[in-house]
Parts: sequence; C-alpha cells; structure tokens
Amino acid sequence: MGRTQQFELRLAERMSRLGTENAFQVLGRARELERRGKDVIHLEIGEPDFDTPSNIVHAAVKALHSGWTHYGPSAGYPELRETIAEEVSRTRGVRVGADEVVVVPGGKPIIFFSILALLDEGDEVLYPNPGFPIYESMIRYVGGRPIPIRLEEERDFAFDAGEFSRLITDRTRMIILNSPENPTGGILSKNDLEQVAAAIGNRDIFVLSDEIYSRLVFAGSHHSILSVAGLQDRTILLDGFSKTYAMTGWRMGYGVMRSDLAGHIARLMTNSNSCTASFTQMAGVEALRGDQSSVEGMRDEFRRRAEMFVSGLNRIEGFTCRMPRGAFYAFPNIQRTGWKSKELADALLVQAGVACLSGPSFGEFGEGYLRFSVANSMENLNRALERISSWAEKNIQH
Ligand SMILES: Cc1ncc(COP(=O)(O)O)c(C=O)c1O
Repeated sequence: MGRTQQFELRLAERMSRLGTENAFQVLGRARELERRGKDVIHLEIGEPDFDTPSNIVHAAVKALHSGWTHYGPSAGYPELRETIAEEVSRTRGVRVGADEVVVVPGGKPIIFFSILALLDEGDEVLYPNPGFPIYESMIRYVGGRPIPIRLEEERDFAFDAGEFSRLITDRTRMIILNSPENPTGGILSKNDLEQVAAAIGNRDIFVLSDEIYSRLVFAGSHHSILSVAGLQDRTILLDGFSKTYAMTGWRMGYGVMRSDLAGHIARLMTNSNSCTASFTQMAGVEALRGDQSSVEGMRDEFRRRAEMFVSGLNRIEGFTCRMPRGAFYAFPNIQRTGWKSKELADALLVQAGVACLSGPSFGEFGEGYLRFSVANSMENLNRALERISSWAEKNIQH
C-alpha cells in the first residue's frame, strides 16, 4: 500500500504521450502469479537464455582489476569505437571512422537520442507496425507524428516498398527500419532496401536502421541500408551486444552516423548517462575481436527451436505460423481461434501458465497475432506447446 500523499502528482504533459514495452508488464504479472504458486513458462521477454560467452566475461573481470572503473569519454573509449568502426566497415561494406561511432548503454538509447536530436514537433516518422513499441512511444513523446507502415503476413512480413512513396510527405523527417524484425521475424532484402532508397531520393530524411538482430538471420545474409549507395550520410545504424552476445543485462550498444551528428548524440550522453560503463566497453572489444563461434552456435540453436516451436503451433487448432527468417520470435496468426489477441494472451497466462505477448503490444496491425520468444530451452518450449494445445482443445471451438 502506498502512503497517502498530501500533494497530487502533477506530471509534465508530455508524459501522457510516453508509451511502454508491454513485455516488462507481462513479466511482472507472470512473476506475481508465480509468487502465488502458479507454474509459468516465460516466453514473453526477448532475451537470449544463454550466458554471456566466457571470453567476454573474463575480459570484463580483467578490466575491473586493471582500473577500468572510472568515467570515460561520453561517446565511448577510442579502442571500442575503432573496433566497432572496423566491424561495421567490414560487415556493411562501407568506410566508417571511429568518429562516426557513439557507444551507449544498450541499443535503445540510440532510438531515444536520435529522435530527441532530429525531430521537431509535427515532424512525421514512418515506422514498422507491428514493430518494436519504443519507436511509436518516442515519436509521440517528442510531439512527432507516427505514420505506421503495415507489415503483412502475406509478404512474409516484409513491407510493400511502394507504400513508402505514398506515405512520404514534405513533413517526413525520419524512416525507421528494423531487420530482422521484432516481433514478426521478417527481414528486408537488398531489393527492398534499394526501393526504400529510391523512394527517399534526394530528400533530407534520416533513416534509423535498427539492426540489433543483424547476426540472427536464419537463411541468406543480412542486408543493411548503410550499404546502399548515397544513403550513408542520412543513415543512423543501431546495433549492439545484447542479442548477439547474450549481454542484455550489461547495457551496451552503439550508433553509427555522420560525425557531426555523432557529436550531438554524445552531448545527449553527457547530459544523461555521462558515459557507458568503462569495464563493459573493454569486454565489448573482446566480444567483437574474439572467437565468434558462440554467436553462430546460439543462432543455430534459435533456428532449431523456432522450427520445432512453429511446427508445434501449426498443429494447434486455430493457430497458423510462418517460420521467422531471423531474430528469435514466433508470431502466429490466431484469427481462426475466434479470440482477440489480448484476451487469448491473458487466458494462456492465467489458465495455461504460458506467458506470451499479444500482437497489439506492437501496434494496431498486430491484432490477430501473438508473440512467443523462442529464447528458452527446447524442454520448456515443448512443455509450452503441450499446455497451449490442451488449453486449445478445451477452449477453442472446431
Ligand atoms: C528491435 C529492437 N531494437 C532495440 C532493442 C533494444 O536492445 P537493448 O536491450 O540493447 O537496448 C530491442 C530489444 O528488445 C529490440 O527488439
């Protein structure tokens, strides 16, 4: 019980426009049910269930013992910025310098800072829907206008590139891309990206390219808009360590952008976090330069789990699910169950003991879908399938 307050809490008006990430709320509810004795399988949170590879942990411990425990530069240590610049130059086939890299605590701050730095009130931003909820939340928070780009199942959740030309206006300031995509597992092909670039043409529009799942592509290779000729000066690449190296709790990610903008983003860092933790940055150098076999091992394991889980879902009455092309989520269509997404997700949590997210947690075009994270053991995924299946037998009409 909270204390009785003498003063009413008066928040700034903009707080009414700030959204949230439903995953953390569902996790809270699931934990509450667990405290009351219910057994819950957690498929709601999007984080690798693996431990951080030990070479990275050792590098952090070594850094702690060697005095990497002080404030560092707001944009990150030169050692890590150079390593990231080399990595991005190699993987995206462009020349990137260390002065174009800003290291931040997680991938998320790049979304926050880019939007804060570039958007004025009324500016329009095109963003994927269903998509990561923080995009819309932040656009609204700064008084921008979110313009959703609908991702359709029939296109394997790639977008209709032609729609860009229709949706771009004189007020468009930014386009957000996310590939591989959360929650759908869709990916953007080289051709998709070239079409987006053609739609942008010579306009002064920034692309925020969220590539946090870039190393989790199940078939074919990852493509970045940074590689498309003429786009580098107008692209902010977001990538990081959370998903690739199972480092969600370390809080470290980065943005790659033209150096003048990087200076302004670093100024936002000075005003907020001061810097990213110093010893974790030394571990970041090891993550990028060290042995990569664990990254490939985790990706292959996510693919195996996704294949098993998706085929299990397809055997359940009312569920149909496509195999994701990347990331680690299954996004089944549940329209034939006759249930609304939110009610179904609630029932699965409370009655079946399986925590997942409803499609509309990712925007209005997510209605009719659920999101399950497959970043859990095969055993738990199998148990979840059994629970959903027996729940569906009792509650879904044939
Ligand atoms: C699409 C997308 N972008 C960014 C992030 C944020 O990553 P981080 O934990 O590194 O801040 C997530 C995390 O779930 C994500 O799914």
